[in-house]
Amino acid sequence: MGALLGIQPGDDIADLGAGHGWFSFPFARMVGSEGSVVALEIEPAVISLLEHQVRVTGQDNLRPVLSRPDSLMSEPGSLEWIFAAEVLGLVEGADARRARRGEPPLAPALFQDMRRSLAPGGTLVVSGVSPAFENLPRYASGAGRELGLWRKMLDAEGFQQLGSLEPFNGDFEVQIFRLSGEPPRDEDSLRSGG
Ligand SMILES: C[S@@+](CC[C@H](N)C(=O)[O-])C[C@H]1O[C@@H](n2cnc3c(N)ncnc32)[C@H](O)[C@@H]1O
Repeated sequence: MGALLGIQPGDDIADLGAGHGWFSFPFARMVGSEGSVVALEIEPAVISLLEHQVRVTGQDNLRPVLSRPDSLMSEPGSLEWIFAAEVLGLVEGADARRARRGEPPLAPALFQDMRRSLAPGGTLVVSGVSPAFENLPRYASGAGRELGLWRKMLDAEGFQQLGSLEPFNGDFEVQIFRLSGEPPRDEDSLRSGG
C-alpha cells in the first residue's frame, strides 16, 4: 500500500494504532534511515512486542510509543503521513462508552492533533474492512462506517478527500485525505476512485 500511495525515502510517518506493526515495519523499510515511523499504541503489551521486534530486526528508525488515545505524540508539522488502519472504529467505540459515562469524546481532539502534526501537504490515510464486507466482524469497523459520522470533524479540520482505493473486490477501503489549502505533494502517486 505504501508504494501505491507514494511513500518516499526520508518521509516521517505516524502509524496510529500500530498493532503488531503490519504496516509500521514495511513503512520503516520504505522511508529508510533518513525517515522515521512512530508506531502509536495504547496497549503496553503491544508496545513491548513492537520493541522486541525492533530489537530483533534492527529497524531502529521505527519508534514504538505508548500513546494517549487522542494524540499523535508528535511535534507540530513533523509528519508527512498519518496512517490509521483499523483503528478509528475502536476510537468510535471508546467514544460511545465515554458518552455513557458523561466524558468528552476523543475523536475531535484526535483529528485536531492530526491537523497539528501534519507537515504542509501531508496526507492522512484511513483504511479498514469495508462496512459492505459480508459478515463484517464487530471489531473490524474500518474506514467506511465511522467516516460517515466523522466527516464533519475532518471537514472542520480542513481535510479534503483526495481519493479512495478498494482492494480485495471492495472488501477493504482506503481513503486518502490532504489538508486543504496546501499544495499537493505528488498528485500523480495517488489513484483516485479505486
Ligand atoms: C485492529 S488493530 C489494527 C492494527 C494495525 N493498524 C493493522 O491494521 O494491522 C487496532 C489497534 O489500535 C490500538 N488502538 C485503539 N485505539 C487507539 C488509539 N486511540 N490510539 C492508538 N492506538 C489505539 C489497539 O490497541 C489495537 O492494537
